[in-house]
Amino acid sequence: MPDLTQSIQAAFSERFGERIAVDPALPGLDELHRIAAHRVHRRYLARDVSPDLLRLLCACAMSAPSKSDLQQADILIVREKARRDAIADLLPEMPWLRDAPVFLVFLANGSRLPQVSQWRGKPFPNDHLDLLFNAVVDASLVLATFMRAAEAVGLGCCPISVIRDHARVISDMLALPDKVIPVAGMCLGWPAEAGAITPRLSLGTTLHEERFEDGDLAQQIDAYDRRRARSRPYRNQRDPARFGVASFYGWSEDKARQYAVPLRADFGAFVRAKGFRLD
Ligand SMILES: Cc1cc2nc3c(=O)[nH]c(=O)nc-3n(C[C@H](O)[C@H](O)[C@H](O)COP(=O)(O)O)c2cc1C
Repeated sequence: MPDLTQSIQAAFSERFGERIAVDPALPGLDELHRIAAHRVHRRYLARDVSPDLLRLLCACAMSAPSKSDLQQADILIVREKARRDAIADLLPEMPWLRDAPVFLVFLANGSRLPQVSQWRGKPFPNDHLDLLFNAVVDASLVLATFMRAAEAVGLGCCPISVIRDHARVISDMLALPDKVIPVAGMCLGWPAEAGAITPRLSLGTTLHEERFEDGDLAQQIDAYDRRRARSRPYRNQRDPARFGVASFYGWSEDKARQYAVPLRADFGAFVRAKGFRLD
């Protein structure tokens, strides 16, 4: 299937700025193409996603692998308009949250396993950081699998981690018990526009063989900044009043500015208050 081969290569050339070999005889090229062409969507048509389709996507998501088969990820569907609006009100900078036909929350659930141990009359000497870590990994895999399923049927998604800026309020709103925390929200709907591929750091930076190798990282980041600026230049610079106006504004400048501001410094306290131990 030469068309798909070329489309995958075109997507990766945009993504990584390099030609990736694709054997046209491989099965599953359509799936690889969807993965290669991934992009989040933040604008949606005014068209519902049927409950049956949503349930199908959740079933696909919950088919993701699970660490030790512990199954520590849950999905919460927020349908009620008042609750949706209350969450959207907390995040006015992200109007796609209010507009999306569907809003979900992906949860790390560290509460089931200790309960099971108790019901089976067993000790639970594993109430430490690993419990949280495993549950967050499971939730992340479920989230990624959900996106893959949604994109396969032509839906568009945008994960929403900024709900964690209001973790306590949202946790109360959704009645999350102890040891259940939100990992990310998710907007879902039929895309209103095609969207575009976001370039990633080159595989030379993020793909390692045998030993971790950082090499000339600063130079590689600089090259990435310039490659990315050619196809996806930033429209606005963050906080020019504090940082000035950069003559060249690339990804690294943007991320450095973004993380020059304390973000969710209270998140550890929230996670502890939800009963997770972080040691
Ligand atoms: C865990 C996670 C949380 C995210 N949180 C937000 C968010 O709060 N708001 C938002 O608009 N986009 C969010 N995104 C989307 C990213 O900004 C997006 O994936 C990134 O810019 C790369 O774009 P791409 O996915 O189209 O390649 C999130 C993505 C992930 C994986």
